[in-house]
Amino acid sequence: MKRLSALAVLVSLAALPAFAQTPPSPLKSKEVFIRDLMQRMTLQEKIGQLRLISIGPEMTKPQIRQEIAAGNIGGTFNSVSRDENRPMQDAALRSRLKIPMFFAYDVIHGHRTIFPISLGLAASWDMDAIGLSAKVAAQEAAADSIDMTFGPMVDISRDARWGRTSEGFGEDTYLVSRIAKVMVDGFQGNDPAAPDHVMAAVKHFALYGAVEAGRDYNAVDMSPVRMYQDYLPPYRAALDAGAGGVMVALNSINGQPATSNKWLMQDLLRKDWGFKGVTISDHGAILELVKHGVAADGHEAAKLAIKAGIDMSMNDKVYGEQLPKLLASGEIQQRDIDNAVRDVLGAKYDMGLFADPYRRIGKAVDDPADINAESRLHREAARDVARKTLVLLKNDNHTLPLKKQGSIALIGPLANAPIDMMGSWSAAGIPEQSVTVLQGLRDAVGDKAKILYAKGANVSDDPRVLAFLNHIILDRKEVEIDPRPAADMIAEAVKVAQSADVIVAAVGESRGMSHESASRSTLDIPAPQRALLDALKATGKPLVLVLMNGRPLALEPQLQQSDALLETWFAGTEGGHAIADVLFGDYNPSGKLPMTFPRSVGQVPVYYNYLSIGRPFVPGEQPNYRSQYFDQEPGPQLPFGYGLSYTDFKLSDITLSSPTMKRGGTLEASVTLSNTGERDGATVVQLYLRDVAASLAQPVKQLKNFQKVMLKAGESRTLHFTLSEDDLKFYNSQLKYADEPGQFLVQIGLDSADVKQQSFVLQ
Ligand code: NOJ
Repeated sequence: MKRLSALAVLVSLAALPAFAQTPPSPLKSKEVFIRDLMQRMTLQEKIGQLRLISIGPEMTKPQIRQEIAAGNIGGTFNSVSRDENRPMQDAALRSRLKIPMFFAYDVIHGHRTIFPISLGLAASWDMDAIGLSAKVAAQEAAADSIDMTFGPMVDISRDARWGRTSEGFGEDTYLVSRIAKVMVDGFQGNDPAAPDHVMAAVKHFALYGAVEAGRDYNAVDMSPVRMYQDYLPPYRAALDAGAGGVMVALNSINGQPATSNKWLMQDLLRKDWGFKGVTISDHGAILELVKHGVAADGHEAAKLAIKAGIDMSMNDKVYGEQLPKLLASGEIQQRDIDNAVRDVLGAKYDMGLFADPYRRIGKAVDDPADINAESRLHREAARDVARKTLVLLKNDNHTLPLKKQGSIALIGPLANAPIDMMGSWSAAGIPEQSVTVLQGLRDAVGDKAKILYAKGANVSDDPRVLAFLNHIILDRKEVEIDPRPAADMIAEAVKVAQSADVIVAAVGESRGMSHESASRSTLDIPAPQRALLDALKATGKPLVLVLMNGRPLALEPQLQQSDALLETWFAGTEGGHAIADVLFGDYNPSGKLPMTFPRSVGQVPVYYNYLSIGRPFVPGEQPNYRSQYFDQEPGPQLPFGYGLSYTDFKLSDITLSSPTMKRGGTLEASVTLSNTGERDGATVVQLYLRDVAASLAQPVKQLKNFQKVMLKAGESRTLHFTLSEDDLKFYNSQLKYADEPGQFLVQIGLDSADVKQQSFVLQ
C-alpha cells in the first residue's frame, strides 16, 4: 500500500467529519513530520502557532474561531468542555494547513474533583496518593478535552508570606523533587499522547518561590550555589520525568527577568538540561519586560523574549505584532522564530494531536449531558487522599478522636464554607459539590450525636482584606460577610458551645488569602476569629481547632488555647468527610508538615535546612551574641516534618552498616520503628544528612530520604535506608556537583528536629 505523507494523513483526516475519524496510520517520525510541515508554513502561520490565548471576554467566540481558521492562534487556555473546544478545533482544521490547536488549563490540584491544595498533598508525604491525585486530575481534564496542564508548580517556598505557597509543595528540595516526578508521571502517564492523560508544563521556571519578602511578582536575588542546590532541582526532576512543557516565571533573577533570561532559558534549560519541549511565557510576561525596565517597548520586549527562547506568548499580541518587523529589520533571524515553532509543533505532536486532533475532544454524541454530573467525580479517591494530608499538631489528653455521641458544637467562619474547601486553584471544581466540615460531621455521626452550628465570626473584618478577597472572582462573592455585629455572633456561638460537650472550631484563612497575588504581611489568624476563639476558650469546654489555611501560620496563641489542633489546609471536594474521618478516629492522621511553621512573621524566612553559621543559637546556652531575635523564643513554632498520630511511635538508635563509605560505594542506615500505642497507624520516618566540614558552609541538615510506614498497634519493623555517594554531593563554588571526604552525620527522626544520630566518614 502506498504510504501517505504525514501531512496527507492529516489532511485526509481533517476532511472527514469529526465523528467519523478513526485512529490514523502512524505518522512519520516527529522530526521529519515537523520539518515537512514547517516547509509549507508561511511566516504568519508560524507566528500564529506562538500565540496562546485565554478564552475570556477579550474576544468573542466567532472572532476566536475566525482567528484560529486564519492560522493566527496556536493554543488556548481557560475553556474546559468538549463542546467549547470542538468548534475551535474544527476551525483549526479549516485553516490552510489544518494544524490542530491544543487546549490548556491550570489543573493544579484536581480538575472537576478537587483534591487538597498542593501544600496539603505534600503534607501526606505519600507518593502514591499524590500520584493518584494527578492521575485522576489528568483523566478528568482529558475527558473535558484538555491537552495540557500548567502544572505541576514546584517552586520552593520558604517564605509563608507568599500566597502561592499554597500552590507549591513546600520548602524542601528533596521532597518537592520527589513530588515533581510523581505529579508529572500522574499527569502524563507513560505517554502524554494518551487520550486519558495530559501534558505537564512545569512552572514557574525559575525560582518564583523566592520573591523578595514573599511579595508576589517581586524580584529574586540569589547566589548561584543556592539556586543549584536548593531551588532548581524540582524543575529538573519534573523535566527528567518527561514534562513536555515549561512555564516561565514572572520574576527577575539577579536583575534579569526569566522571560528575557538567555542564561536560564538556553544555557541552563536547553544546553545543560537538554530540554526539548515547549516553553510558555506567563500571562502577559513578555510585555512586562518593559515594566521590568529591560525593554524600551513591546518591540524590544518581543525581541528579548524570542531570543531568550520563549516559544509561546501567553495572552498578548506582542509576537504577532512585532516578530515580522523584527525579522524584516534583521534584529532577529528566521531561525529564532523557527526554533519556537518547532517546539510548539513538537509539543502538539507529543500530545498526539497530529495523529488525532480530536483525541481528547471525542465525538459530540459522547459529550456528557451534564459536565458537573456527580458520576464524573472521583469522590472516593479525593476522600482517601485528603485524609492523608491532614496533620495533627496537638492532641492533649486524648481529646481526639471525638466520640460519636452527645453534642458537638461546630463553630467558625470556615465550618460551612464550600468555596473555601476547594482551595486556591480549584480549576473546574464547583463549590456546590464540596463537602464542608459541617456536612462531613453530620454525615459521620448520623443520629448518634448532635452537631450544633454557629458561624461565630466573619473570616476577617478588615475592609481592605474583604475588598481584596471579593475582587478575585467576578461572578460570585468569594467571602460572604455576615452583617451582624461581631459581639452578637460571638454571643450566639458561646451559647451554642455552652450547650455542647466539646467545641470544634473551624478557623484560619479563606482560600483567597492564600492565592496568586495574595501576599500577607502577618501570619496571624485574623482578629475576629481570634476574638471568637478567646470566647470559646472561656467556656471551659474542650476546644478542638480545625485549621484551614494555605500557608504556615503563626499559631502560638492557638496552640496554647486549644486542646487539639488539626491542620487541614484546603482539603478539596471531599474535605469535610476526610476531616470527619480523622476527628472521629475512622482514620488515624499521618500527615507531616512540608513547611516550617514560624512563631511570628518576623522569623520569616524560616526553614529547617539553614546554613551552618559561626554564632548559632544553641538551646541551653547563654543567648547573647548568638543568632536569634532577643524578643522571642528562638526556633520555629513547629518544625518541618512534624505531625502527630493517635498512636505512639518510637524509633531505635541508628545502626550503620559501616563507619566508613568508600567513594562510589554505599552505606546502609537501619532503624527500628515501633508502634507502641493502641491503634494502627502510619508515620513518616525521615532521614537527614549533614556534611560536617566542607569547602562551603553546608545546611545543618538536609532531607535525603523518607519512608511512610504503616504499623499495626504493637508492631515493630526495621527500616533500611541505603545512602550512596550521590547523597553526599553538593554544588561547590565552581558549581560542580561533588562530594568531599570527611565526616557526615546521619539523622533519622519522625520530624526534622527530634532525631537520632550517627556518624560516618567518607574516605
Ligand atoms: C498566571 C499564573 O502565574 C500562572 O501560574 C497561570 O498558569 C497562568 N496565569 C494561567 O492561568
